[in-house]
Amino acid sequence: MKHLIAPSILAADFGNLQRDCEMVNNSKADWFHIDVMDGVFVPNISYGMPVIKSIKETANKVLDVHLMIVDPDRYITKFKELGSDILTVHVEACNHLHRTIHAIKQEGMKAGVALNPHTPVSSISDVLNDLDLVCIMSVNPGFGGQSFIENTYKKVEQLRDLRNKTNSNFLIEIDGGVNLQNAPKLLSSGADVLVAGSFVFKSENPTQTISELKSI
Ligand code: DX5
Ligand code: ZN
Repeated sequence: MKHLIAPSILAADFGNLQRDCEMVNNSKADWFHIDVMDGVFVPNISYGMPVIKSIKETANKVLDVHLMIVDPDRYITKFKELGSDILTVHVEACNHLHRTIHAIKQEGMKAGVALNPHTPVSSISDVLNDLDLVCIMSVNPGFGGQSFIENTYKKVEQLRDLRNKTNSNFLIEIDGGVNLQNAPKLLSSGADVLVAGSFVFKSENPTQTISELKSI
């Protein structure tokens, strides 16, 4: 499978959100990556329901929603109504991760789990067969524009090996500090989906940057 590119809307220009969503629609990007932060699970607040509603009105690709919020079970139905295709939660935000994963799937969405830089791959070994996506955070969640943590490559390889061993078929997504320098090694380590925020939206020609990431 050719790898997928998911531009992170967190780095878009919110005064020109429709324009930036149209740029993603007309680019080689595969998904829209949408970061929801509550100021509790992470030390930052991003955007919520009305903004996602606006994104959905323009976006014509998969909505990959990354919840950096405590107790995400409270909002699973709401995110389905908003048009999420994939809903990703953090291990540490869920008391009963297995239940949360199945509640997401029950709503007809794909279920993802995100691992913080300090969270070992082994923490999800008992739910790997239930997952559609594992998001490896390559920065500490909460902000765009941070630098990539090198230990990520090792985790991607571990997760790919575990996927083979367990015969599971989730996608491996990398989120944070992704650019054209680290992307080739991430892909050869086993990544399937690259999230890129600043590297895309702060570049001179975002459409071309997406093409470059896609054609690695
Ligand atoms: C960080 C978010 C990322 C962020 C990535 O908490 O989960 O999705 O938008 O942004 P860059 O690519 O700028 O690191
Ligand atoms: Zn994210």
